[in-house]
Amino acid sequence: MEPIGFIESCFRDKFGTPRQPGLVKNAWARLKIRADLQPEEALQGLEGFSHVWLIWVFHQNKVARYHAKVHPPRMGGKSIGLFATRTPHRPNPIGLSLVEIVKVEKDGIIVSGADLVDGTPILDIKPYLPEVESIPDARTGWTSEVIKDPIQVEFSEKALDLLAQWQQRNPDKPLRAIIEDTLKLDPRPVVYRGYEGTDTAPYRNKHAVRLFDGDIHFEFETPTQVRVLDILFTHN
Ligand SMILES: C[S@@+](CC[C@H](N)C(=O)[O-])C[C@H]1O[C@@H](n2cnc3c(N)ncnc32)[C@H](O)[C@@H]1O
Repeated sequence: MEPIGFIESCFRDKFGTPRQPGLVKNAWARLKIRADLQPEEALQGLEGFSHVWLIWVFHQNKVARYHAKVHPPRMGGKSIGLFATRTPHRPNPIGLSLVEIVKVEKDGIIVSGADLVDGTPILDIKPYLPEVESIPDARTGWTSEVIKDPIQVEFSEKALDLLAQWQQRNPDKPLRAIIEDTLKLDPRPVVYRGYEGTDTAPYRNKHAVRLFDGDIHFEFETPTQVRVLDILFTHN
């Protein structure tokens, strides 16, 4: 299979990319389709749909060894069979994401809510058909047992100043909402959690996610409170 194109996404690294689509509603992504596939023709009619499935490749997977059981971050350390999860580490590393169409362009689409890293190869797009694909009373296995306290996001004075400057350079992007929704998902791997506000953490307590051309530096002060400390962005 050959990718039909590559995604341009606000999420520059795996770290910080949401674990499912729709969790960061304003997440921005654009798919440009290969010219030889005649995108203008191939996309005709898609503007009538609000959502599409993206089928794609976990091209940044590093771990090659097969594990039949995996540790989803939301299970806090417990393991479960890989086919009962959406782990990137699968026999065929294929991803599936339901995203909202923002705009159908001549040579591609702009979508919101994607959980894909910048540069991800896309294999296919298919329209979402709610009359057959929406099953409101479906059983949801172990995921229905996961309860999480809501996380509050605060900004330091410095971060607020920098956010205002960064926003001026990107007037069409809801940067604050994207930062808040990204951090509310607690992007930290499980091993980093539980040491908030202590000096005894075996790993660092400060982290950064890359969004667009910015680095968002943050620290969890408690398990449910995160503070944005600094924002570094490219000054032209
Ligand atoms: C749990 S997977 C779910 C993906 C998709 N919704 C699915 O169910 O197949 C989402 C995670 O995959 C990782 N990811 C996103 N794009 C990737 C890529 N191109 N290569 C490897 N990992 C990626 C990010 O860390 C993201 O949080």
